[in-house]
Amino acid sequence: MTRIFSGVKPTGHLTLGNYLGAVRQWVAADQEPDEALFCVVDLHALTVEHDPARVRRLSRQAATLLLASGLEPARCTLFVQSHVDEHTRLAYLLECTATDGELRRMVQYREKATRARDAGEGVRLSLLTYPVLMAADILAYGTDRVPVGEDQRQHVELTRDLAVRFNQRYGHTFAVPEATHPVVAARVMDLQEPTSKMGKSGDAGPGVVFMLDEPAVVTRKVMRAVTDSGDGGVVLDREKRPGVANLLDILAACTGGEPAALADGYQGYGALKRDVAEAVVETLRPVRERHAELAADPGGVEKVLRAGAERARGLARPVVDRAYRAIGLLEP
Ligand code: TRP
Repeated sequence: MTRIFSGVKPTGHLTLGNYLGAVRQWVAADQEPDEALFCVVDLHALTVEHDPARVRRLSRQAATLLLASGLEPARCTLFVQSHVDEHTRLAYLLECTATDGELRRMVQYREKATRARDAGEGVRLSLLTYPVLMAADILAYGTDRVPVGEDQRQHVELTRDLAVRFNQRYGHTFAVPEATHPVVAARVMDLQEPTSKMGKSGDAGPGVVFMLDEPAVVTRKVMRAVTDSGDGGVVLDREKRPGVANLLDILAACTGGEPAALADGYQGYGALKRDVAEAVVETLRPVRERHAELAADPGGVEKVLRAGAERARGLARPVVDRAYRAIGLLEP
C-alpha cells in the first residue's frame, strides 16, 4: 500500500494553478480511502493576517471544490485539519526535533516574513513553525507520497529530515515520505508576471485565473496575458519567453499535448491565446457546474468532512501515540 497525503490552504480562492498543479493529480490517483488523504489545512491559514469569516468561507469552498473536481469520498479521505487534533499534538514533538536555524532558512518563510514586515504587520511565530505543522500533517499518517507543487519541495525535504532524525534518536516511528510533482504545469505562472507563481494569496491580480471564474472572465484574463516581444513565431523558450512558455504549459496541461510540439502549431500569439482560453474554460467547466450543485447542499459537504475527520483520526492516533511514547512521555 502506498499512502498519499496532500493539503490545500484556504487563504484564497483556488486557482487554475492549484487545479493543474495539484488537485487534478489527486483526482487521478486510483486509491482506497485509507490510502489517499486530502486535507483542507485551515490551521495554516492562520499564519498570516486573516479574517475569521473569510477563512471559514474559504475552507468550506475549498472542500466543496475538491469534491467538485472529482475526489470521491468512497475512494479517499477528505477532511479539515483542525478537526483532527493529532496534527497539533505531533507538531509539538516535531518542534522539539527541528532547529531554529533550519526553519529560518525556509525560502517561503523568508519571502512571507519580508512581505509581512513591509506591510507593517508583525510576523506571526506560526509562520516560522508552519513547515513543522506541515511535517506533522504528513508524518501523522505514515505517508509515503506527497503530491504537491514544486514550491513545496523544500518543505517536504524538511519533513524527510525530521522523520529520519526522529527515527534515529527515538527508534523507528515514521515513514519517510517523498514529494511527487506533475510533469507539466507543476508551476502555473501568473499571466501578468510569468516569473512568479499563480498564487491564490497575493493580490487577486488580473494574472490569476480562479477555478470558479466565469468563462468570460477566464477568456479576458488569458487574452490579456503578457507575452514577450520578439518575433519568429511561437517558440518554447522558458528563459527568454516565460509568458509564452507559461501559456504553452497551460495548454499542454489542459489538452494533454506537449508544450514544444504545441508551439509548432502557431504562427502568432493571438491564436495561441484563443486556444488557451478555450482549453481552460472547457477544463474548468465541469468543475464549476458540479461546484454549484454541491454548494446548494452544504449539509452534504459537512457530512463528508465529518466522516473524513473520523477516519483520519483513526489513522493518525496510533502513529502519534507511538511518537509520544518514543520521545519519552509517560503513557496516560
Ligand atoms: N504548505 C502547503 C501549501 O502552501 C499546504 C500544506 C500544508 C500541505 N500541509 C500539507 C501540502 C501537507 C501537502 C502536505 O500549499
